[in-house]
Parts: sequence; structure tokens; C-alpha cells
Amino acid sequence: MSDRKDSKTHGIDKYHHFDDSADAGGQLKSVYADWADAYDDDNDNKLGTVSQPTTVAMLARHCQDKDAVIMDVGCGTGLVGMHLKTAGFSIYDGTDISAEMMSHAQKHGYRKLLDLEPGQPLRADDASYDATLCVGVFTHGHLGPEGFDELIRITKPTGLICFTVNEGVWESGKFEAAITALSESQTWQILEQEKRDYMVNEGVQAFYITAQKR
Ligand SMILES: C[S@@+](CC[C@H](N)C(=O)[O-])C[C@H]1O[C@@H](n2cnc3c(N)ncnc32)[C@H](O)[C@@H]1O
Repeated sequence: MSDRKDSKTHGIDKYHHFDDSADAGGQLKSVYADWADAYDDDNDNKLGTVSQPTTVAMLARHCQDKDAVIMDVGCGTGLVGMHLKTAGFSIYDGTDISAEMMSHAQKHGYRKLLDLEPGQPLRADDASYDATLCVGVFTHGHLGPEGFDELIRITKPTGLICFTVNEGVWESGKFEAAITALSESQTWQILEQEKRDYMVNEGVQAFYITAQKR
């Protein structure tokens, strides 16, 4: 058997061959259970993913309060937390559907790590966070714009919501229309929206967006 075929059992290859027409939640848990141990290395050395430092830098442009209470939705192995700590933020929680991914996150200083079931509400009170981040989750077969509602619910009025949308799902997932509708309904105001590098080694970009909850 060639290495390539064999590697299809590995998380990164399952990620590349994700079938987003099927049972997304169940598949995702399996993908990330298999990928968790190798995720950080693949992030840096195979995919060349730069979304975590780029999103934290975006947050820092709009939030000078280093004591802001932050939620990292889809925290995975905690790479966003690692960059939050480097940037001087000190109070951040994480939540994810993959216990295997989150088992790597504690070393990056999260205050709380909360389990989550796909499709279920976030385990957080309404208006309880100064900033909510969601990095790498609005992508193929993961979460669509229906996920915005929960990010908005847990964020305080005038709080920030910083997220990425993979360019490959921007149109097919109708993200632009959903973002515009939330602006028109005065639910949030877009402070920043830029297309930037995302997975450099794959030549993939993402939209990086900061919204302020009204
Ligand atoms: C590409 S990884 C990104 C992880 C981390 N944010 C980062 O940037 O390294 C996507 C993460 O989203 C999680 N995920 C997928 N669907 C989710 C959902 N509906 N709610 C929360 N997390 C989800 C996965 O378990 C995985 O850890």
C-alpha cells in the first residue's frame, strides 16, 4: 500500500477528503480524534496555517483591554490561546466538540475548557464575554453562518466577535448575505473585513472579520 493511501486514515487526510454531504458532526469528531496528536505539527509544517496569530492580531487592534474576558469557540488544541497569551491577554475560555483536541489546550493557559456537542448551544451565559473568537471553524463541512447566533448570544453588547471564513465556503455557504443581514438588522457592526493568508502552503485565503455586537 502506498504512503498516500495509508495516510488517508490520518486526521489531516480525512480533513482533506471531508465529505460535507454526510453526517457532519459525527465525521468531524472522528477526523479530529485521529488528528489531535499531529494537529499542531501539521498546522505549522504541512498546511502553513497562519489564522491563529492573524486573528489574535486583529483582536488586539480593536481591544486594548488585556483583562477582557474571551471565549475561543472551536479552540481545538489551543493555538489561539497560545497567541492570546503571547499578546498579553490573560482570561480566556475554550470550547470544542473534540475532547481529544482540547486535551492539548490546557497547557496554553485557558481558564476553563468546555465540552460541546455539535448543534447544541454553547455552554455559556448570554452576554458573558467581552470578545468571542472563532478561528478555523467556518470552513468546509464544519459550521455554517447559523453558528453566528451563538457567538452573538454569549458576547456582551459592544463586545467583539472575531472570526475567519475559509474563502472556499464564502459563496457556497452564503456567508456574505448572512453577515450583511446581521448588519442591516443592527445586530452587529462590521469593524474589519479583510481577505488574508490562511493556509499558506495550500494557497488558501480566508476572510478575517471583526464585528461589534450592538
Ligand atoms: C481547523 S480546527 C481549528 C482549531 C483552532 N481554532 C485553531 O485555529 O487551531 C477546527 C476545530 O473546530 C472544532 N469544531 C468543529 N465543529 C464545531 C462546532 N460546531 N462548534 C465548535 N467547534 C467545532 C473541531 O473539533 C476543531 O477542533
